Amino acid sequence: MAADTTAPQPPLLEGRGLTRTYPMGDSEVAALRGVDFRIDMGENVAIIGPSGSGKSTLLHILGLLDRPSAGQYLFAGVDTDTLDDDRLAVLRNRAIGFVFQSFNLVSGESALENVASPLVYAGVKRKERLERAAEALVRVGLSDRMHHDPSQLSGGQRQRVAIARAVVTQPAVVLADEPTGNLDSSSSSEVFELLERLHGEGLTLVTITHDPRIADRAGRIVSVEDGRIVGADRPALDDERAFAPHDDARPGFVVPPAGLDAIGLGDGS
Ligand SMILES: Nc1ncnc2c1ncn2[C@@H]1O[C@H](COP(=O)(O)OP(=O)(O)OP(=O)(O)O)[C@@H](O)[C@H]1O
Ligand SMILES: [Mg+2]
Repeated sequence: MAADTTAPQPPLLEGRGLTRTYPMGDSEVAALRGVDFRIDMGENVAIIGPSGSGKSTLLHILGLLDRPSAGQYLFAGVDTDTLDDDRLAVLRNRAIGFVFQSFNLVSGESALENVASPLVYAGVKRKERLERAAEALVRVGLSDRMHHDPSQLSGGQRQRVAIARAVVTQPAVVLADEPTGNLDSSSSSEVFELLERLHGEGLTLVTITHDPRIADRAGRIVSVEDGRIVGADRPALDDERAFAPHDDARPGFVVPPAGLDAIGLGDGS
């Protein structure tokens, strides 16, 4: 059957009334208090807000690392509540890349092995894993550091390795939690220019940041305060770099028109 490419696409990420509470002794902490949003394929969104406002909690839900306490989180139109933990893990591995403030690289493994690691879970054979990891490292400008241990790299280089690891699976979206939080100003610039370039190549990007330079250059800013999204989303830049959704967004992970069922990830109904 020919795929219907004209059918309207659901948002890539959509939250409806998301809440997340954490038990704390006899009481609860409400980290998210009813959050609605949609993020389309090809967007570059910055999430900003004070410490403790719920940004990382939200990003963990977006990244399928955590589930909401209530509300609905839809990934490419699929209600993630219908997916068991195994399916969530497969979807996370295939469709989402992560970049964290603290890099989260494995020491004792080379940059190349670190970047190749998500492909192990994806079932890619070793030779292809290493080829694809090498390509990803070239993309982030580290072709001369492939065999270095993370401890032999600068902070900026470590984060570029982490970005290579995030994109090696050709995910639909990269979620970054303060990717420049541990970097000096010039390494920060390198890292966010790299993320911008990857966005320019079609990647959907969601970045939590305290860095006004990053927020100002995103296509859209979402402000979180006290577990809620506040204020109207605003376009950040009024110029050509404003990173509106790309018509030609070309993520490697394409949601099949028939839905996630087509790749064995639907709810099976
Ligand atoms: N595992 C947990 N158990 C209990 N409370 C938690 C847990 N994780 C987060 N919280 C609480 O939820 C709220 C939101 O935390 P979150 O980490 O999402 O904030 P944040 O906006 O990312 O802050 P920061 O800018 O400091 O990283 C905070 O009040 C925090 O203390
Ligand atoms: Mg946080």
